[in-house]
Amino acid sequence: MARQTASRTASFPSLRPAGENLGAEVAGIDLSLPPDQQDFAFILQALHRYGVIFFRGQQLTPEQLAAFSRCFGELDIHHMTEHVFPHLPQVRVLSNVKKDGVSIGITRGGMHWHSDLSYKPQPALVTLLYGIECPPTGADTQFADMYAAFAGLPEARRRKLQALRAVHDRNFRYSALYPGRPPLTAEQVAKVPPVEHPLVRVHPATGRPALFVAKDVVSHIVGMPEAESRALIDELEAFATRPDRIYSHKWRPGDLVVWDNRCTLHRATPYDPQYRRTLYRTQVRGEAPIAMAS
Ligand code: SIN
Repeated sequence: MARQTASRTASFPSLRPAGENLGAEVAGIDLSLPPDQQDFAFILQALHRYGVIFFRGQQLTPEQLAAFSRCFGELDIHHMTEHVFPHLPQVRVLSNVKKDGVSIGITRGGMHWHSDLSYKPQPALVTLLYGIECPPTGADTQFADMYAAFAGLPEARRRKLQALRAVHDRNFRYSALYPGRPPLTAEQVAKVPPVEHPLVRVHPATGRPALFVAKDVVSHIVGMPEAESRALIDELEAFATRPDRIYSHKWRPGDLVVWDNRCTLHRATPYDPQYRRTLYRTQVRGEAPIAMAS
């Protein structure tokens, strides 16, 4: 297939891993035009290999971000419908900036470890986050390698865990996680009921098993006494998010970060509120998590 070269430099894409297994920079691709088949195959391979990939120095409009995001699949419109572009509700704004006293985006969201929309029957596949304004320090987005977490457990433990199912519930700790936000209405609570998923999921493209747990979203393990269930969930998240399994993305304006929610957890981190932070975000619709064959 002919390569699209309209506004591209004639460079080939290259990959610079940020660590051994998690996070890699893809260089040499201008995403203002949707990538051709060859470049997209390169991007997808990099995502499947490293779980999180990033592109520096991009200049994207919300429309161009949505167009590139659609290469990964159908875009979701988030169930919380505020802070989206009215003409493009698939693109959501995260920001601490206020205009006439009103926030232009979601402020201080996602500061707990999570996998996007894990509390839905079909959690998000891939998320894309594009930096517009970034503080000079702090505000990293951190990612945890859930393949490595599962692989790091003793075999007997892995066998036990792969038979378990966990309940993901957006409403479980919502008010504790977001004390500044109004409580969810009965309608909002009813819209997102708890959902059961395997505790270990198999990535459909790589065939690799990954732990699928986050302590502030998983309310309990099915059929396990409450105290034991809570202890297990907390222990697994702590194990999965050990510093050696983390990639911390340090943002620059023009960065586009793409992560695979099927094998990673992520969280936002604090920053000095004197700095402006604005990002655009899209989310690709996923599939029901696949359990390991017993
Ligand atoms: C999120 O997508 O959960 C937030 C990430 C961030 O703001 O760094």
